Amino acid sequence: MIDGSPSSAGLEAQIRTIAPFDLASLAEVHAACFAEAWDSGALAGLLAMPGAQGLVAEGPGTSVVLGFVLLRAIAGEAEILTIAVKPGARRGGIGRRLLNAATASAAASGASRLFLEVAVDNGPAHALYLAAGFAEVARRANYYPGRGGAITALVLAKDIASRSMVPLAQT
Ligand SMILES: CC(C)(COP(=O)(O)OP(=O)(O)OC[C@H]1O[C@@H](n2cnc3c(N)ncnc32)[C@H](O)[C@@H]1OP(=O)(O)O)[C@@H](O)C(=O)NCCC(=O)NCCS
Repeated sequence: MIDGSPSSAGLEAQIRTIAPFDLASLAEVHAACFAEAWDSGALAGLLAMPGAQGLVAEGPGTSVVLGFVLLRAIAGEAEILTIAVKPGARRGGIGRRLLNAATASAAASGASRLFLEVAVDNGPAHALYLAAGFAEVARRANYYPGRGGAITALVLAKDIASRSMVPLAQT
């Protein structure tokens, strides 16, 4: 299936926490999605950072990795480090489900605000984030190298509910 065509895998895909045995598959998906690929070691290093979390989408009915998201939640704020869906599995809702799951995970970790960066010319990702309620809060000029010149990054943010923030009276 070509990128941009609807996929039916999204609703049936299983989303679970990333395990060490996923690293090689995650690296393959990342290489298929980004010009600057992160290898297994780089991904393991990110997941070893304090507050780092990862979720993978697989299946349906198989253990084939279709996409994943890495995030970091620390000191009441969270950041999406990367999100990627295999080209053949896009437009089926997996990106939205991964983003929603990452948002819930960040909130459960005590974050009240979720940030991410997206290249100004990344239309699909920008559309995904806007549809999920993110709004632009800043721009970083000349942030991404490549494609004939440096590309501006948009910094997007969204307020998220934090289930772990229980009123003191209830603790
Ligand atoms: C961005 C990305 C993760 C989206 O994954 P996806 O599984 O295709 O997204 P979904 O099917 O869940 O789409 C959810 C919504 O995002 C928007 N969207 C996603 N892809 C789009 C596209 N090609 N064109 C326009 N809107 C798009 C739509 O609003 C869509 O809702 P709809 O299908 O009801 O119209 C995927 O395109 C990807 O991996 N891109 C390469 C890596 C990347 O750029 N990551 C983001 C870095 S900041």
